[in-house]
Amino acid sequence: MLMTDQERGVPRQTPTLVVVGGASGIGRAVLTRFAADGWHVVAADLHAENGAALVAELSGDGASVDFVETDASDESAVAAAVGRAVRASGRLDCMVNCAGVGGAFGPLVEIDVRDWDRTFAVLCRGVFLGVKHAARVMLGQDGGGSIVNIASIAGLGGGAGPQAYSAAKAAVVNLGFTAAAELGPHRIRVNTVCPGFIPTPMTRPADGDARQALHDVQPWPEFGTVQDVAAVVRFLGSEESRFITGETIVVDGGVRATGTRLPPVLRGGDPAARGLTGFSNGSTGQKSVVHEIPADSPARVGSAAIDPGGTAAGTQERKPEQ
Ligand SMILES: NC(=O)c1ccc[n+]([C@@H]2O[C@H](COP(=O)([O-])OP(=O)(O)OC[C@H]3O[C@@H](n4cnc5c(N)ncnc54)[C@H](O)[C@@H]3O)[C@@H](O)[C@H]2O)c1
Repeated sequence: MLMTDQERGVPRQTPTLVVVGGASGIGRAVLTRFAADGWHVVAADLHAENGAALVAELSGDGASVDFVETDASDESAVAAAVGRAVRASGRLDCMVNCAGVGGAFGPLVEIDVRDWDRTFAVLCRGVFLGVKHAARVMLGQDGGGSIVNIASIAGLGGGAGPQAYSAAKAAVVNLGFTAAAELGPHRIRVNTVCPGFIPTPMTRPADGDARQALHDVQPWPEFGTVQDVAAVVRFLGSEESRFITGETIVVDGGVRATGTRLPPVLRGGDPAARGLTGFSNGSTGQKSVVHEIPADSPARVGSAAIDPGGTAAGTQERKPEQ
């Protein structure tokens, strides 16, 4: 049987974290990270079984942890989860809004409006409710607090997620700006974290094909981990980041940094992949210069990511320099 907060005896004024969507994946890693630093941590999640397992694991390690069965889209449930955390420790220092589902998918012309609305209820209304009820507590306490919303690179452009999911995440990014502006004078910071592809129960462990597909779009050679995201959230929840608010931080191994991905034929046949480098003179009338990448150069490794551009036509060969 789970212990109550009172039975566990949380010392008053212990820094306190609530993670909505904390029973799995990224949210679970965030709770684990803060708990290791001595925070009282509260997971609010729909999944009661996973919540109980989390409490058993973290309290077994000596952490002060609680679970509240919560639907992120239900205002009274979110308010109750926040209220329970505050009754235990007297504070709410960090609120992380992390509940996530894949939501509606399929062609736009086939998506049922109820599926669209449910996607927004969890991913967008849920974040709004978390911000609202966290801010109500933080407005009345010394030192304000930190709110971190988990959006996605899917909310920053096209092609990284289903339509409703991506639109809802884009709304979360924008809410981060407006909430930060409104709450900043009260020392309440609001930041948004946009993960790239992180293997979790929601995205499922990636098989070989997925690894190869990821390699084609992500410069960093390995998948990101839930701990990579949790480390950024930990920073945003600490005094180390006290002057950072209204920021959107991408944690994606460089996926977004690569920008538009043209097929090799539009990139001059991808010279780097063919072991060539040089300088493109474009339409200056001067010939471009091409030389071979030395066989022992580290640039040969992963060279497909390099795009010198425009070297396919009007080039002159140059031997590697000795
Ligand atoms: N994993 C990724 O690659 C990735 C990338 C970008 C963004 N994200 C975002 O990160 C967040 C966490 O995702 P994850 O990958 O850790 O997934 P996950 O499935 O491991 O965890 C999501 C958690 O949210 C909970 N949840 C879902 N609906 C809820 C609701 N209505 N009320 C309360 N809890 C609810 C689930 O029970 C689960 O515990 C999500 O917002 C997701 O959109 C994940």
